Formats: sequence, structure tokens, C-alpha cells
Amino acid sequence: MDGAKEYGLRNVSSHCSISEMDDYDLSKLLEKRRINTERKRSFDDRSLSELSIGLLRGLDHFDSSYSPLRSVVDSPASSDQNSFEPHPMVAEAWDALRRCTVFFRDHPVGTIAAYDHASEEVLNYDQVFVRDFVPSALAFLMNGEPDIVKNFLLKTLQLQSWEKKVDRFKLGEGAMPASFKVLHDPVRKMDTIVADFGESAIGRVAPVDSGFWWIILLRAYTKSTGDLTLAETSECQKGIRLILTLCLSEGFDTFPTLLCADGCSMIDRRMGIYGYPIEIQALFFMALRCAFTMLKHDAEGKEFAERIVKRLHALSYHMRSYFWLDFQQLNDIYRYKTEEYSHTAVNKFNVIPDSIPEWVFEFMPKRGGYFVGNVSPARMDFRWFALGNCIAILSSLATPDQSATIMDLIEARWEELVGDMPLKISYPAIESHEWRIVTGCDPKNTRWSYHNGGSWPVLLWLLTAACIKTGRPQIARRAIDLAENRLLKDNWPEYYDGKLGRFIGKQARKYQTWSIAGYLVAKMMLEDPSHLGMISLEEDKQMKPVMKRSSSWNF
Ligand code: GLC
Repeated sequence: MDGAKEYGLRNVSSHCSISEMDDYDLSKLLEKRRINTERKRSFDDRSLSELSIGLLRGLDHFDSSYSPLRSVVDSPASSDQNSFEPHPMVAEAWDALRRCTVFFRDHPVGTIAAYDHASEEVLNYDQVFVRDFVPSALAFLMNGEPDIVKNFLLKTLQLQSWEKKVDRFKLGEGAMPASFKVLHDPVRKMDTIVADFGESAIGRVAPVDSGFWWIILLRAYTKSTGDLTLAETSECQKGIRLILTLCLSEGFDTFPTLLCADGCSMIDRRMGIYGYPIEIQALFFMALRCAFTMLKHDAEGKEFAERIVKRLHALSYHMRSYFWLDFQQLNDIYRYKTEEYSHTAVNKFNVIPDSIPEWVFEFMPKRGGYFVGNVSPARMDFRWFALGNCIAILSSLATPDQSATIMDLIEARWEELVGDMPLKISYPAIESHEWRIVTGCDPKNTRWSYHNGGSWPVLLWLLTAACIKTGRPQIARRAIDLAENRLLKDNWPEYYDGKLGRFIGKQARKYQTWSIAGYLVAKMMLEDPSHLGMISLEEDKQMKPVMKRSSSWNF
């Protein structure tokens, strides 16, 4: 087959596949897999196809009435997307974002974390962080500029294949870097790359979120461009499988959630989020669903797809049952008996009611709820975390009722969670003795600062996406207005401090790229909600909780 013909054919098949990808329902996808499997029965391992039929039992069908959105493919993003109702900040933001572009051998491959000339300490803010690049990538995709995103995905994929070591210990093959840096040698006219998989990071923690963001971004690229050829390459398929191998491996776990060290995600310092942090669980769930839509139907792909489906079932049940907190559930925990043994235990993790912090009783509105920060034996971290809750909405880890209830909470506790600058990374701050014990006396994470209850403008895009998905664009509008009052004037700080987020963060960088990109993404999504499709997955009815833990999100 000649090159042009092959290209043409591939294009056709891409368009077929992307419409398949619109079909968010796992059950439908599995059904298609089953049909394909049956068609190819003579080639395939019979027991494998039976296994996937077994997995199909009890599947519902997707309720399309839930989504008010057009698909991105129906309305491809174009370069004039940001041209209507231009706020003066939008043009400034684009200029600032473009200044952050990093080139490798003349090709754009990412954006640096911050372009702050005034700061004496560069640390690693001159690097391309995987998680920080996500809002930049979405901004470029929404503006019809996918090349930088494709280059980034391929470059980080190459880095994944590096041998990664901390001292004498070798990391898992699938680990993705937290960040990388391009070194320009002006004499030899050579560009080289150094990457950090945690071996240079403060605290030496591997970024568990990087691989998940990579998968989520690959789907966003595919969805936005309609180009399935990238995800279909054997390199990308292998990259996905390596990441999955890391997080689906069997061990001593009794829970389907992913066990993590402290500081392995956006909150990359010790903040008492070791165990099963909501941010990682929500990203894990979303990455599994995204990977499912992109895995090829070959033998290896099928095997992983089946493992994904099983894990998704268990994970969504666990999260929706044990991480969910609303007024009713809080009341139930308050009255928990302890020291229960055997399968009949109600208080399965032996949470001692006395460990419920005072603030939760005040904070919990009659109408409202959220996924708590962490659940493990005798430990519930009742703190509210923005990223995990927004990703839970976008990935449909939260049911439509739960999503609406999370938004109710944000509205009811606007002052606490949004205040003067969207959005608090976590609530509330930890202080005094608890701060000493939990953070190890971290001077950067003092109360209401940085990761400890600081306000991060980057989270605006996640809030906006969650608002659009739940049909509450007016909340996003309010939040964007707040950001527009300050962000440009303050030179796009990394974070704000204080109970209301009124002060530029103590050690915040200026011209923090994801603050800039986050604003642009929020603006573009609100202008054209069809962009949401690249970062959102519809509910899958098959994963509905078996029992509802409380009635307050059942309006
Ligand atoms: C800080 C943040 C981290 C971010 C990095 C680069 O370390 O905690 O989430 O990726 O800065 O901006």
C-alpha cells in the first residue's frame, strides 16, 4: 500500500473510531468488543471472549439525556475560538503563555512552569512539568494548535523508556517524569533533555499523577483533533500499557484504591495525604476510563481492557460508598460503633467518631457533600480537596446526584472555598500542633498558604469544567470575574494566601504558566462549552452504586 493511500485509509478509520469514542458507555464499548471478538472467534482465544461476555452481565445503557453537550467532533475547535467578547486579559494571557514555550530541536514540546525573572531562586520552575502542561495543552487544543501537544506526548513517551533510578533502586518501567528540562548547547548547537522522575525532586517522591495526566491528555488530543493515529501507534499503546501495569499490579491491597506516598501529585510536599489521596484516586479512575477508550482490540489490549473494567467496578463502588460525605453520612459516622468484627461491620474501617474534627460539623451544609481526602484503617481525612472533587465530576466517578451535591457545597461554602480568589486547593488549613506533626514543620506550608489551604488560580479551569458539566455556568462566571479582578494586575501568581485568598502567596512565583493557561481554558470553555468533551466522560450506568448511603443527595 502506498503512503498516501495508507494515510487516506487511516484517516477514514480515525473518523469511525472517534465517533466510537463519543460513545462513552463502557457497556456499549464492551459490547462492540464482544461483537468484534465473536467475529474473530476463529483467531481468538475462546475463553477470553467468554470472559468479556461475563463482564457484560448486568450492564445498563447510558442515559444520554444527562449530557447537554455537543460533541467536540461535531464542532471542531478553530483558531478563532478566542475571538469573541475578548477581555483585555485574554490577549495578554496568550502572549504570556506563548513566551513560556520550550523548544527541542526547533519543535515546541511544552511550556515551562514559570517565567519569573524577578525570583532569585529558579529551583525547577524552568522545567516542563507534566501536570502543569495539561492546562497549556488544553488551551492550545481549544485554539486549534495541536502540534505542541502531540510533540509533548511523544517526547514524554520517549522519557518513559529511560531507566529510572533513585540511588541504587530502579523505578517501575512505566513511570512518567514529573518534569523535564531542555538544555541548549550553543557551541555544539545541540539540544539535550534531562528528566526528573522523583530522583531530584524535593522529598524524592515519584509523581503518580504524571502517567494518569499523560493518558488523559492523549485522549483529549484524540478527541479534539479526531486524529486517532497517534493513540494507535504501537509506541503509545505500549506507553498506556506500561502505565496500567504499574497501577493495576496485584499486591497486598485489600482496597481497589491506589496506595501512595505523601506528595506524589500536585501537592508535592508532605501534607498528610499519604495512603489513598482523593486526587490520585480520581485521576486513576479517569485515566482508566480514558485508556479503555484508546486501547486497541488486539490480544494485549483486550486483556488490559478486561482488567480495567473489573477495577473500575470495584473502585467506583469503594469511592462512592466510603469516600462520600454529606450531612446524613456525617451523622451516621458520628454515631458509629467501633471494634466491629466480621462481614457485618457497618464501620468497616473502624473510624473512631472522636476523630471527626470539630470544623466538619460547622462546614457541612444541609444540602451539599464531597469526597473526603483519604480513607484508610481508622483514618478518615475529612479535608476537602478541589482537584479530586472536580476530577470526580469530570470523570463521572461522582454520580450525577453526587456531582450536583458537590456543586451545592461549593455554592453553600463559597466564602470558604472560593473567597476572593478561586480556588482553595484544600480546606481547611492545618495549624499549630497538627501542622507540626503532619507537615514536619514545613515553613512553606504554613496555614492558609501554598498546599495548606492556599488558593490556586490554576484550579479555575477545573472548577469551570465542573460547573459546565453540572449545568451551572453562572458559578464559573462568578469565579472567572474574581480572577479577572486580580490575576493580570498581580502578574499571574502561582497561589494566594489567607483565609479568603486575598494575598499574593508568600513564596508564589509570578507568571506561573498554569495560572495563565488555566484562565484561558476557563474562558474558552465558557464561551464554547463543547470543548468540555475533551476533558469529560459521561456517566456509565453500570457503575451505579448498589446502595445509596444517604438521602441528602437524592433530591
Ligand atoms: C510546585 C507545585 C507542583 C507544580 C510545580 C511546578 O511544586 O506543588 O504541583 O507542578 O510547583 O509548578
